[in-house]
Amino acid sequence: MPQKILLYCDPGIDDSLAIIYALLNPEIELVGIVTSYGNVNQEQATQNVAYLLELGGKEDIVLIGGAKTPLSGEFTPYYPEIHGEEGLGPIKPPATIKGELLNFDAVFKLIEEYGDELIIVDVGRSTSLAISFNLAGAETMNSVKGFYIMGGAFLTPGNVTAGAEANFYGDPIAAGIVMEKAKNSVLYPLNVTKEAIITPTMIEEIVKEDNNPYQNLIKEIFDYYFKAYQKLIPGIEGSPLHDVMTLFAVTTPQAFKYVEKVVTVGLDEGNLRGVSIADFRPKPDEKGNKLTIALEVNTDTFAENFVKTMSSPISNNH
Ligand code: BDR
Ligand code: CA
Repeated sequence: MPQKILLYCDPGIDDSLAIIYALLNPEIELVGIVTSYGNVNQEQATQNVAYLLELGGKEDIVLIGGAKTPLSGEFTPYYPEIHGEEGLGPIKPPATIKGELLNFDAVFKLIEEYGDELIIVDVGRSTSLAISFNLAGAETMNSVKGFYIMGGAFLTPGNVTAGAEANFYGDPIAAGIVMEKAKNSVLYPLNVTKEAIITPTMIEEIVKEDNNPYQNLIKEIFDYYFKAYQKLIPGIEGSPLHDVMTLFAVTTPQAFKYVEKVVTVGLDEGNLRGVSIADFRPKPDEKGNKLTIALEVNTDTFAENFVKTMSSPISNNH
């Protein structure tokens, strides 16, 4: 049986590749997508998802309008230099495409409908997921099968500041709420997602096939993303697809090594903003909600699975 997934995201190039990966993966059934601000604003994120769904003839997948700002209400920067002005690299989705958005309570209808068969995957800022906990309460939210969350960085450099990863930095208050309240949660921090390196050679292999309507788009957005990463990290051989790795983890959890720890998130406006903290001492004094944190990954398994999945036809699950 494919895993039923409700995806919270902010497309964004790696989010877009994650959506395509989900649509092409026979082990995943995407039942809904919550679109929020993050890599681009919320309206643009929605338009991008609507465009991706239309390309694949999957307009039936439920689109839900998520948060437009962090819980603090402040403006947080977008990243056009990495994701492009519209979030799809060089591609501008046609203005005619406007996703039909459902109100936020559609999240709770999906939870009611699928219950403990539903997995929530959050690859964006944590705002919309924290709001879900606020509106529905922890008991309802924790009635799902579990949460797979991309965020944080433990004892390793951040990607927005020296210590902070972008999703946690974007809304540290929300990330803290989710870390405290979400049960059955697995966290995929930069420790593993920075290893989700996809190279131009792998993309060439994917586009050789003509099995799905996404091949041209995959190449164009990847090339843009790769150029951006080459500027950021000279000599890098490919670009990390953080969000794809988090979805891959749902179907291939055995590719990772995990630890269990309580996680807190720095709220300070200085160097500690968005920094994820866990106690790695030999005898940690742990009280609170323990999360499973992925700290190592088998990168060959990921790369192989990515090339195979992205070369496949759209699955009929959705
Ligand atoms: C995360 O930040 C976003 O910009 C990416 O889409 C990913 O979800 C990586 O830090
Ligand atoms: Ca993202």
